[in-house]
Amino acid sequence: MATVRIPDEKRTLREKEEICAYLGGIGIAYEQWKPAGQLAEGASAAEMLAAYGPEIDRLKAEGGYVTADVIDVMPTTPGLDAMLKRFNSEHWHDEDEVRFIIEGRGLFHIHPREGNVISRTVEAGDLLRVPRGTWHWFDLCQEKRIRAIRLFQDPSGWTPHYTESGADRGFEPVCFGPSYIAPRRVLS
Ligand SMILES: [Fe+2]
Repeated sequence: MATVRIPDEKRTLREKEEICAYLGGIGIAYEQWKPAGQLAEGASAAEMLAAYGPEIDRLKAEGGYVTADVIDVMPTTPGLDAMLKRFNSEHWHDEDEVRFIIEGRGLFHIHPREGNVISRTVEAGDLLRVPRGTWHWFDLCQEKRIRAIRLFQDPSGWTPHYTESGADRGFEPVCFGPSYIAPRRVLS
C-alpha cells in the first residue's frame, strides 16, 4: 500500500487504518479494490470496466457518478507534458476527482483549507475520491506511467480552476519510498 506523507509535520503514515482515518478527516475517501476475476495483462478498457463493474456501480450510486472510463498514460503519450501541466499546479474542480489505479503510480498533493498539505502516492489497487472544491495537484511518478479508471458526475465539470496560491511550488513532486520524508523546498 502506498503511504501518506505530511511534510510539515515530518510524518509518514503507513498503516491502512491510520491512512484511512487521516484522509477521512480531511474529506478524502480511500479504498483498495481487488478485481473480481483474473485480469489478463493488457486487458482492454472494456474488460477493465467489466472486471470492476460491481465497485463502479456502488460508487455511482453513492456519489452520483454517471460515467466511467479508463485513462492510459505512457511516457510516449503525445502531448504528455502539456497534459501534466494542466494538473500539476494547485487547482480544484466543480466535481469530484475519482481515480482507481490499475497500473503505474501517481502523486496527489491535497491542501486542506485548514491544515497541512499531504502527499499521497497512489498505485495499483488504490481508489481515491477527492471531493469537488478540494484544493489539490497531481504529478506522475518518475516512470510516467498510469492506467486508471475515472468516474464522473459530469465530465464537463472536470475543468481545473487554478488557485494561484503558490503552495504547489513548496513541495517536491517526486515519488519516494515509504520511509522518505519530503523536505519543504526553500523558496527564494
Ligand atoms: Fe484535479
